Amino acid sequence: MTLENIKLDIDYVRSQFPAFKDPLSKDWSFFENAGGSYVPKNVIDRLTEFMTATKVQPYAEYPMSKIAGNNMDKATELFAKMINAKNNEILIGGSTSINLYVLSNALKKYLSPGDEVIVTNQDHEANISPWRRLSENGAKIVEWKFNLSNHELEISELEKLITSKTKILAVTHCSNIVGSINNLKKISDLAHKNNIIIIGDGVSYAPHGFPNVKELGVDFYTFSLYKTYGPHLALLYGKEEILRDLPNQNHEFLKNQYPYTINPGGPNHEELVSLIGIYEYYENLYKHHFDDTNLGILQKIDKINNLISNHEEIIANPILDYINKREDLRLIGKSTIENKNRAPTISFTSKKKSSKEISNFLIKNKIATRNDNFYAWRCLNHLGIDNDDGVVRISLVHYNTKKETEKLIKVLEQF
Ligand SMILES: Cc1ncc(COP(=O)(O)O)c(C=O)c1O
Repeated sequence: MTLENIKLDIDYVRSQFPAFKDPLSKDWSFFENAGGSYVPKNVIDRLTEFMTATKVQPYAEYPMSKIAGNNMDKATELFAKMINAKNNEILIGGSTSINLYVLSNALKKYLSPGDEVIVTNQDHEANISPWRRLSENGAKIVEWKFNLSNHELEISELEKLITSKTKILAVTHCSNIVGSINNLKKISDLAHKNNIIIIGDGVSYAPHGFPNVKELGVDFYTFSLYKTYGPHLALLYGKEEILRDLPNQNHEFLKNQYPYTINPGGPNHEELVSLIGIYEYYENLYKHHFDDTNLGILQKIDKINNLISNHEEIIANPILDYINKREDLRLIGKSTIENKNRAPTISFTSKKKSSKEISNFLIKNKIATRNDNFYAWRCLNHLGIDNDDGVVRISLVHYNTKKETEKLIKVLEQF
């Protein structure tokens, strides 16, 4: 069987997520996934298991503590493997916002007064504010603006902004409003040709396919695990050769123990262990759809990513098409998904109704969505959209169904 012939078994997928059976949530179409996703049973089981007998201080010699520590290590190791990083190249922290603040503090070391830092106006504020704040240390902040006619961040524009003084570039892999997938590999290559450290924000990308960080070539990459079917934690990847030399942000005695040097406080233990459940869910997805058991973890992830992308493309394109054709609606970003050029994160506004009115109407019809600026307020400012009312955002992931999206279109027809 070729990959193209294999379709995601949506019934199997949904059977793994207890939210689809729970009386509170089961009748809802859940389209606020870019805010935070549901979790599969494996994650809940791992959390419960940890909390039952091993919720003690880890890494002591008695069995409950030993197992707790081993499982914490296992979760980190599995996630490092899943994104093609080394164990000492990833850290799990409380959120992407926290991780990037700590990282920006550590990266000050590379800046002299007058050096330049490039940020975009398409990013979530988590990947803008920490870098803009470096102006307090004398850095000049340069903004890479997206093109208003197509809503894209264009590399030709970035080329014009880079100078011999540019030291840091922070850019999103996928905007949580526009949805386009930026060519991070190409942007990374350009950054490195100019000796620039590049930080990629993968928060809106990773729920649609775990990244291979070495292939992307970025120096740092971050995503929020609570949007990739896990608990409220976030992962930060950093290249070993840079991490090793970063000034310690943690307790003094940990000064040589990267990556803990940029993980003050460390992660929540029970949530860290529950990440094993995400890996198990992916393993189960793989086994359910594919026969070849000899593949390595990255090859398996690649196949699952394709399966997920194909499904997302099928369910998201009719919505994009519908919104795009309606003259009273303004679709943000590309009007079609093809070849993974866009995530199924679909933002729009209306000429006739406020985003709040539309969102409330959808909620009345048991469609869980939201109107907001989603902390991408510079992006909305650039688009000329009121930040208080924001956009209506329909954000799908692979567990959404065709039936749900058909219902959405029917409900949208009513106003
Ligand atoms: C694209 C993007 N980047 C960063 C963040 C911040 O993530 P966290 O909530 O983990 O700080 C978000 C959160 O919604 C996001 O959508």
